[in-house]
Amino acid sequence: MSSSVTTSTPGKLMLMGEHAVVYDRGCLVTAVDQRLRVTVTKSNNPQQLTVNAPDVQVSGYQHDLSHDKDSTDLPKAVRFVVKSVQNFYQQNQLQTGLQIETTSEFASTFGFGSSSAVTVGTIAALANLFAVELSKKELFDLAYKTVLDVQGVGSGFDLAAAIWGGLLYFETGGKVIEPLEVGQLPLLIGYTGVKADTVTLVKQVATRKERYSELMDTIFDLSWEAVKQGKTALLNHDWQELGELMSIHQGLSYALGVSSIQLEKQIMAALDAGALGAKLSGAGGGDCMLALVTSNADSVKEAISNVGGQVLDVPLLAQGVRVES
Ligand code: MEV
Repeated sequence: MSSSVTTSTPGKLMLMGEHAVVYDRGCLVTAVDQRLRVTVTKSNNPQQLTVNAPDVQVSGYQHDLSHDKDSTDLPKAVRFVVKSVQNFYQQNQLQTGLQIETTSEFASTFGFGSSSAVTVGTIAALANLFAVELSKKELFDLAYKTVLDVQGVGSGFDLAAAIWGGLLYFETGGKVIEPLEVGQLPLLIGYTGVKADTVTLVKQVATRKERYSELMDTIFDLSWEAVKQGKTALLNHDWQELGELMSIHQGLSYALGVSSIQLEKQIMAALDAGALGAKLSGAGGGDCMLALVTSNADSVKEAISNVGGQVLDVPLLAQGVRVES
C-alpha cells in the first residue's frame, strides 16, 4: 500500500435545470476540463490532519480528528476536506494521521464547483490510499452526505459531474444519474467577474417558493420539461432546438429572480451576435453564462467581451475523478 495518493477531479457547468433540480426535478450537467488536485499522505501523528491549500491561502492548518469541532470559520475548501476525512474515517473506522494538499487549475470564483471537486477528490484519494473499494454511487453517496453536512443544501449534481465526468442527466440526490454520449458541445462560456454564493441564492429561491408555492412549482415543472426536451435535442445534435430551449430556460431563471444585469447583458449580446441560445449557468447572480454557438463564434466572443464578460476557453465533457499517482 503506498503512503501517498494524488487524485484530479474536474469542475462542472450546469447546462439546464438549475434550482429546479434542488426540488426533485432533473438537470443536464457537463464536467469541465479544469482540474483540482488532492494529495493525501499518511503521517505518523495519529488523529492529526494537516491541510495545505495554497489557492485559498491555507498553510499548515492543523485539525484534531478526534474532535468534531465546528470549522465554519475556515475557508470553504478546508471545511469540505475536514468533513470528507471525518466521514470517510467514521465509515471505515480509521485513525491514521494525514497530510492533505489541494491545488486547483480553476479559480474558486468561476462557479466551476471547487467544493464538490475537493470533496470527491479527497474521498477518492482516501479510498485509494486505504485500499477501500468504493463504487461510483458509493463515492457519490458519501460525498453528498459530506456536502449536506457542511452546507445543508444542494442537489448533488456537481458531485455526479466530478465523479462520472462527461455529460449527465441527473435527478435530485442522485435518484437518476445517466451518462449521455454526445461527442461535442458547441458552447461558449462567459464569466461575469461576479462571484455568486450558491447557498444564498438557493435560500433566496426557497423564500420565494414559500410565498408563491404553486407558481414556483410550475416554473420548476417547466424547467424539467425544458431539460427533458433539451436532452433529446442534445442526443440528436439538434443545436437549433437546444438553443431555443436554453433561452426558454433563461426566462424561467429570470422568473425565479436569480438573473443579474451582467448576465442579462452578456446573454442579450451573445444572442444579438448570432448565438442559437444563451442562459446563465448555475445558481445565477453572477458566475458564468453559456451561449450555444455553431457559427460566428468570433463575433459572439467579441460581443460578450464588449459588455464586460470574460470568455473562458475551457474544454467540456471532461473525464471524471481519476488517480494520478
Ligand atoms: C448551483 O450551481 C445549481 C443549483 O441548482 C444548486 C444545486 O443544484 O445544488 C442552484
